[in-house]
Amino acid sequence: MSLPPPVDLVVHGGTVVNAGGRGEATVVISGGRIVAVQDSDLPLPPHDRAVDATGRLVIPGGVDPHCHIGQRLGEYAQLDDYAGASVAALWGGTTTVVDFAIPDPGQAPLAAVQERRQLAASSRCDTALHGCVTRWDDTTAKQIAEMADSGVRTIKLFTTYKDVVMAGPDTVLEVLRTLHACGGIAYVHAEANHVIEDAQDIAAATHQAAAQHHPRTRPEIAETAAVAQVLATAEHVGAPVYFVHQTTAEAVDLVRDARRRGVRAYTETCPHYLSLDERSYAGPHPERYVCCPPLRAEASVRELRARALVGDVDTLGSDHCCYSTEQKSEHSDDVRVMPNGLPGVETRLPVSFTRLVTEAGMPVERFVAMFATNPARLNGLDHKGVVAAGADADLVVFDPAQRRTASVAQLHMQSDYTPYEGQELAGWPGVVISGGRVVLDDEGFHDPGPVGRALDAAPIPDHLLT
Ligand code: URP
Ligand code: ZN
Ligand code: ZN
Repeated sequence: MSLPPPVDLVVHGGTVVNAGGRGEATVVISGGRIVAVQDSDLPLPPHDRAVDATGRLVIPGGVDPHCHIGQRLGEYAQLDDYAGASVAALWGGTTTVVDFAIPDPGQAPLAAVQERRQLAASSRCDTALHGCVTRWDDTTAKQIAEMADSGVRTIKLFTTYKDVVMAGPDTVLEVLRTLHACGGIAYVHAEANHVIEDAQDIAAATHQAAAQHHPRTRPEIAETAAVAQVLATAEHVGAPVYFVHQTTAEAVDLVRDARRRGVRAYTETCPHYLSLDERSYAGPHPERYVCCPPLRAEASVRELRARALVGDVDTLGSDHCCYSTEQKSEHSDDVRVMPNGLPGVETRLPVSFTRLVTEAGMPVERFVAMFATNPARLNGLDHKGVVAAGADADLVVFDPAQRRTASVAQLHMQSDYTPYEGQELAGWPGVVISGGRVVLDDEGFHDPGPVGRALDAAPIPDHLLT
């Protein structure tokens, strides 16, 4: 008779919350995996270490489906690397980050994936990767098949950033069709390039291309138009599609309506689109809030939040981009030149938990679906995003009532600013367990060293969302 494996860690006394429900339970961990989630009335099995989660929530470690780590996009290099970004992710309760292999000019998509996958070795948490296709040629189908075979089944497509990474509509169609046949999903940044270029030209002609005018250079209609076009393409070829960083109710509704027609379409939004609005561009440092799409009007933010509350938003991605205030300000007189994106891998949990759960009453179960379960499933990461026997032992323990003021001085991202400076936020992790190791507790951060794995995505099943 074989003996049960020795128990490394038990997490007891807390309320375990999964996307599908909650209960008082003990999580039993051995060899980096959860081996049991047992009734809290049962005696604890013999164990090496115990975490007392009494009075706190125990949720699955976060899966951030949208992180740019140490990338050079155009002229500007992001400041972090896998070691730095993953440490910040863990501090923020995210135990898996999904990065992008965006090809350098002239580089083949498969080569970009192979190059970037090497970087995972220095990560402190698990990682996965999206490929990226910018133009279709007679090698692309084979490259997509090879990416899928090597565990990369999600591919980013940009409908904007012409002459840099933009994929034309023919490329979008071919990638959607080919990737579907490989069990994958395209991740689309949907903004209509011709609308943006026109809006930027008008802004520049009237000397209004500076950061404070950013919203009018990328209007909501650009997002609506591109989402509608890509959805039509997905419907035509019968392929699934995932929209990154949706910012408007119109865009979310297009996806919801398509889903009702049977299209497998999914919506991601980001903490900043739920939390900040275009008034940030009227402040003293508008450039620090320049991201694409831009922060929207207050009423649009309210509408987006309402969509999230009724369950029409599937995932929360940070769209983490780590730039310094100096990089952001160097060309702040021209949004066509300056670097886009906000630092956020560490603040994804507290910002979105505060806006959705604390302030708006979203059930924690729904929050867990958006923060961990759905991103895991939509990336083919079968062992992630759930507190259940057999899953990876990635957990976050926190007191939902405890608030703290966000301050860059207490954050660990490589940026010298946070867009949330001074905000009172709930949902800061108290204990973080990654692959069965306690990496954060009352005593602080315990660097696990370069333990990150480059996870292979499994084929993404047809019906998978909670
Ligand atoms: O402003 C953003 N989001 N920058 C990063 C690149 C992208 O579009 O996702
Ligand atoms: Zn994007
Ligand atoms: Zn992005």
